[in-house]
Amino acid sequence: MTTTATKPGVGPSGPHNPRAAITAKTLRTDRWWLAPLITFVGLGAWVTYATVRVFMHDYYFVEAYHYLTPFYSPCLTDRCVEGSALFGTPLPSWWILPEAAFTLPFLLLFRLTCYYYRKAYYRAFWLSPPACAVPDGHAKYTGETRFPLIFQNAHRYAFYAAMIISLINTYDAIIAFRSGDSFGFGLGNIILVGNVVMLWLYTLSCHSCRHITGGRLKHFSKHPVRYRVWTFVSKLNVRHMQLAWITLGTLALTDFYIMALELGWFSDLRFVG
Ligand code: FES
Repeated sequence: MTTTATKPGVGPSGPHNPRAAITAKTLRTDRWWLAPLITFVGLGAWVTYATVRVFMHDYYFVEAYHYLTPFYSPCLTDRCVEGSALFGTPLPSWWILPEAAFTLPFLLLFRLTCYYYRKAYYRAFWLSPPACAVPDGHAKYTGETRFPLIFQNAHRYAFYAAMIISLINTYDAIIAFRSGDSFGFGLGNIILVGNVVMLWLYTLSCHSCRHITGGRLKHFSKHPVRYRVWTFVSKLNVRHMQLAWITLGTLALTDFYIMALELGWFSDLRFVG
């Protein structure tokens, strides 16, 4: 390793640079590139799959069991197949318009502005920086204080939207306990409910949620209910990164299962009805 370190405070940009002058790109010798690489591949694969599915405009609803994929919920274009549109079909069937055109932009905003995903894609896609103690891939760093990244501060509002969308997904999962006009229960229900539970855990583990429940309080002792809620959210918050990835998995699994049923690749495993 060829490195040259000089006095702290005397860096390559002059005496005001607070960093030591180190000629090596990084002093890290571990596989620091592995985490951003896995993130790049994982997020890239998921976004590709979701984009293809959203613009497929097909195989999103199993009429016999009322399974609707979350990628198409709520279904709002006049292309929505019979029984899949629970809130009417106010939108035209333009190819460029997803069936869930009212919810997907907010879900995208929610994930894009999420504190965890920001870290993930700043590192994996923008290399800004790719890892701790590894130089930024860009000459200049301006943080999130100016356009366009200043809009990351809208995360709290995206959180409110995500709460409403989670309610819609919950409703979808509940009304899927049907087979024809009577009660029914199959593997698809387990997948739908599992996805919704994970979506709720991810949404509630949000850093904004933690601040909403317990922020700006001087005395927790005077707000015992908020303290309890904040304690619960804080416990979830510790697992936020894991929940972010788990929900990507459950969303893709739910969508894929419903698409596969519709394509006739296999049948739903039915326990009742
Ligand atoms: S911080 Fe990740 S969803 Fe809010």
